Amino acid sequence: MVQNVASVMAELEPEDFHLLSGVEQGMRFSEYVAREKLTDFSRLTAENVDYRLDRCADRGLVERKTIQYEGFKLTFEGYDTLALHTFAERDTIQGVGAPLGVGKESDVYEAQSYKPVALKYHREGYTNFREVMKEREYTADREHVSWLYTARKAAEREYDALETLYPDVSVPQPIDANRHAIVMEKVDGVELSRTKLEPEQVLPVLDLVLDEMQTAYHEGYVHADMSEYNVFVTSDGVVVFDWPQAVPTDHENARELLTRDVDNIVSYFARKYPQQVGDVDHDALADVLASESFESVREFLD
Ligand SMILES: Nc1ncnc2c1ncn2[C@@H]1O[C@H](COP(=O)(O)OP(=O)(O)O)[C@@H](O)[C@H]1O
Ligand SMILES: [Mg+2]
Repeated sequence: MVQNVASVMAELEPEDFHLLSGVEQGMRFSEYVAREKLTDFSRLTAENVDYRLDRCADRGLVERKTIQYEGFKLTFEGYDTLALHTFAERDTIQGVGAPLGVGKESDVYEAQSYKPVALKYHREGYTNFREVMKEREYTADREHVSWLYTARKAAEREYDALETLYPDVSVPQPIDANRHAIVMEKVDGVELSRTKLEPEQVLPVLDLVLDEMQTAYHEGYVHADMSEYNVFVTSDGVVVFDWPQAVPTDHENARELLTRDVDNIVSYFARKYPQQVGDVDHDALADVLASESFESVREFLD
């Protein structure tokens, strides 16, 4: 069950954050951090480490395991707490509200800033990582790549793409990023997958999506995870979100991924609105998007 860590934040003391960030540092070297190492990593006395570990474990922020030694790791709630603490210190957000969405690779919450914003915690690597570690001996620590790292990289990639693309491409405005979390504009819209378009809206909306893909390509990115689940329909158009897999246009697979994106989105429209969208030559359409001469999908319909 996903826990919103915002309620735990108020109970934490500054030294609890030192402890959590000590565990975070130790996790660069091993999945579980030995208790003795935490005095160095957190710069707390051994007694204080014990006291803080209990407090953090009680709140589900660290997990204890004893195999060859007693070790601790951050849970994703513990990592969320560290990111949230940083956003609060920077005054990026003042409070966290209801969930906006739970994906398989993220948890997204509404948060309060000078306006309502979306707070996205990346979870890439968390589930996979656990499976990988189960199969390995504990001594495999040298090959250790923490899920913290995978999730942080995904957040970085998404934030970089948003910063490059906003505002020329219709994406959520990026506001701040820390660790595995990003803060962005909250979009008021309905996911394309949950929208029933009127017949006369179908081709214009598809054109809007393709137009954003064309602009993104020329600003340097292919989305690479394009689908009806990653497009919002709003009162004034469409917003394309969920960019952690974005690939730079100069990447060797970029053109191929652009065609796959076109394929995904056009096939979705063709399945859902067969009256309006018939056969489309996806390769030719992707070529035109890449060459910046896209006008309308109508030119590609039989
Ligand atoms: N900027 C945003 N504003 C409002 N809701 C959002 C925003 N970003 C994401 N969401 C919601 O959270 C869900 C998951 O976000 P998404 O970025 O697609 O992550 P995932 O990689 O898990 O699919 C979305 O389907 C959407 O409902
Ligand atoms: Mg998504």
